[in-house]
Amino acid sequence: PRCYALVPCAGVGERAGVGGPKQYHPVAGQAVVAHTLAALQAVPRLVATLVVLSPADDQFERHAPAFTGERAWVARVGGATRAESVVNGLAELLARGAQPHDWVLVHDAARCLLRPEWVARLIADCEADEVGGLLALPLADTLKAAVRGADGEARAQATVDRTAKWAAQTPQMFRLGLLRPALASALSDPVSAAAITDEASAIEALGHMPRLVPGDWENIKVTWPGDFALAERLLRTRA
Ligand code: C5P
Repeated sequence: PRCYALVPCAGVGERAGVGGPKQYHPVAGQAVVAHTLAALQAVPRLVATLVVLSPADDQFERHAPAFTGERAWVARVGGATRAESVVNGLAELLARGAQPHDWVLVHDAARCLLRPEWVARLIADCEADEVGGLLALPLADTLKAAVRGADGEARAQATVDRTAKWAAQTPQMFRLGLLRPALASALSDPVSAAAITDEASAIEALGHMPRLVPGDWENIKVTWPGDFALAERLLRTRA
């Protein structure tokens, strides 16, 4: 089977507070997504990387000028949610010749610290697996269940047992023929759609158990304003 990467890049990035889609915010001299795509392009096993953009996107080419060539694919089929963007991207991969038994590695545009070695490790560890898997890390912090107090402030209601809890990262690697119906079925009603925050959650909902492959703490998703400064420092020390 071949391996494809799919990068949902159609978000509006409201939480990042940078006044525009966070994937186009500059970090260490390039847009966030340009770093992400450079790492994927450096993985020889990936036949192609498909970037899913919002239909109205007019910024991508300007922000990722190096994303060209036969292995660089773009589709303006982004949806209202990340899961919809991914489902639409999977249909596009099939339309371009990918087969149901091929692997797809879904990776957030906003995880711009990705290293090619981590992708290669995920592929090596999951290729022989029935289901597939994802990069993830055992939780180090103590986990709190939060509620709004009477004063309107966030308050800890209880401590959640963190043993055997992992934080999910991306890439997440599954067969196209399993992931597409899994996401489509999760999206078919609003309650299950809201519970699908990554690809693995849709696979788990079908009763499968994705493999957890140890990721790296540097594989952050730039989400909050301070994340850009951290990403910048990490990228600069690598260069
Ligand atoms: O907002 P969040 O950090 O969860 O987004 C994760 C990734 O999904 C980002 O790369 C974002 O561009 C993408 N996304 C998308 N389509 C949406 C929402 C988010 O492709 N409708």
